[in-house]
Amino acid sequence: MTNQARTDAIWERLASLDTPTLAKLFAADPQRAERLSQRLEFALGEGGEDESSPDPVGMLLDWSKTHLDDDVLEAFEELAEAAAFDAAREALFDGNVVNPTEGRPATHAAMRGSGSPADVEEGQALLARMGMLVEAIHQGALGDINHLIHIGIGGSALGPQLAVDALTRDLELVDVHVVSNIDGLALERAFAACDPATTLIAVASKTFTTTETMTNAASALKWLGDNGVSDPGGRVVALTANPERAVEWGVDETRILPFPQSVGGRYSLWSSIGFPVALAVGMEDFAAMLAGAKAMDDHFRAARGRANAPLLAAFGDLYYTRVRGCQTRAVFAYDERLALLPDYLQQLEMESNGKGVRADGQALDRPSAPITWGGVGTDAQHAVFQLLHQGTHLVPVDFIASIAPGDALDPAHHSALLMNCLAQGAALMAGKQSDDPARHYPGDRPSATILLDDCDAATLGALIAFHEHRIFAAAVLMGINPFDQFGVELGKEMARSIGEGEGEFDPSTRALMKAAGFGP
Ligand code: F6P
Repeated sequence: MTNQARTDAIWERLASLDTPTLAKLFAADPQRAERLSQRLEFALGEGGEDESSPDPVGMLLDWSKTHLDDDVLEAFEELAEAAAFDAAREALFDGNVVNPTEGRPATHAAMRGSGSPADVEEGQALLARMGMLVEAIHQGALGDINHLIHIGIGGSALGPQLAVDALTRDLELVDVHVVSNIDGLALERAFAACDPATTLIAVASKTFTTTETMTNAASALKWLGDNGVSDPGGRVVALTANPERAVEWGVDETRILPFPQSVGGRYSLWSSIGFPVALAVGMEDFAAMLAGAKAMDDHFRAARGRANAPLLAAFGDLYYTRVRGCQTRAVFAYDERLALLPDYLQQLEMESNGKGVRADGQALDRPSAPITWGGVGTDAQHAVFQLLHQGTHLVPVDFIASIAPGDALDPAHHSALLMNCLAQGAALMAGKQSDDPARHYPGDRPSATILLDDCDAATLGALIAFHEHRIFAAAVLMGINPFDQFGVELGKEMARSIGEGEGEFDPSTRALMKAAGFGP
């Protein structure tokens, strides 16, 4: 049997399996909560006792409220074997080409120390260079710098924005504003919050050609110049995999922080794209974030089958999308520090695995990534949870919370946050019978819960790496290349044509162009 025939047969077997309810699964196995939960604990740093080592990372991942049972898990473990998952994982970490359409490896993990010696060495050298610039800025080498306007979009913005927002509750050495949208209002809002005399501009773009970023960068330079800064160009730092282009644009080489082409945009937080994080929280915490991610890499590389936390999560994702027909999955962070995590994961999953063809070019005959969406708890409970509890869609949910609070107010706040988080997972699963149809909750709705010991830099790094690997694992099992994103190009081309008044457009778009003032 060919590998393809083998995987097809496994998908068919999965589709034909019984689907006991969650209640039945728990009743049949008193150990289910323990068997489908895993506590991950990572000691970081050399000695562990060393004061400069980050605190250990700890998290509990509970997948027991999903419909994964032994039959399903066995089938997925066979699928992983048939899809040569172990070899694909090693190819990723060995720096082999895993992005065939662009002929590139994907070396984001090497930036945090997981990869081939050459890739790791290159990553460390690049980050050491970034560390020197961060240190110099903190020491005043570019004058008094109180604000950073970080200009980038997509992967060049979402990661830094998430990490700065998550990690600066206690300390923000430099006030960071991330601006992505080409709508000038976004930049105007940042200007209003910054003093031009003490503002640094980071232009973050892997390609250094993205329209939004280059337009915003030019406007930010003009703002500095218009507001009395004598050498606006001297206040620009470029974070890019295209340093030549940054030089052409006018950035001095000493302020260009390059990263390798093989680091994809949505995986680039670990590279110099993380510069605003390091500037805001210091290199030590930035390094802790990388160390946490590296520890998750080590787990992902070593653990087998269902004991591998990202792989188990991928099994659950594929089960709901491909076997139960769920079109979406939701992520709710019960922690204000992680309020931007759903947005970050949305790009990570949808831009990576939102594909219609396999890596070999064949059309997929089953769905690819679910639509990933979510929000922050408890807010979302009062906005969208109605549909989750009683709507007609089955939506697998992830809950993410931290046991240690992010606030210093009355502990009642944090207890209420956690009790709500736990209650939602329980309520989705248990449901509630009522003779009144409007008050009836069907229950049997799946969720997974990740309980972090704390939401510090190292844990955030581990949590993000967990999701990178979960999405990679799902891609391997679907046969998808998760590292390209050609689907974003057509719209860019058409926007250019509209701007230039060229190209053939349909009657609807022509009418809209006319109404919006484009063309003759
Ligand atoms: O349009 C999609 C995309 O290419 C993302 O993948 C990327 O993160 C973003 O645009 C920004 O690209 P760049 O970093 O090259 O400006």
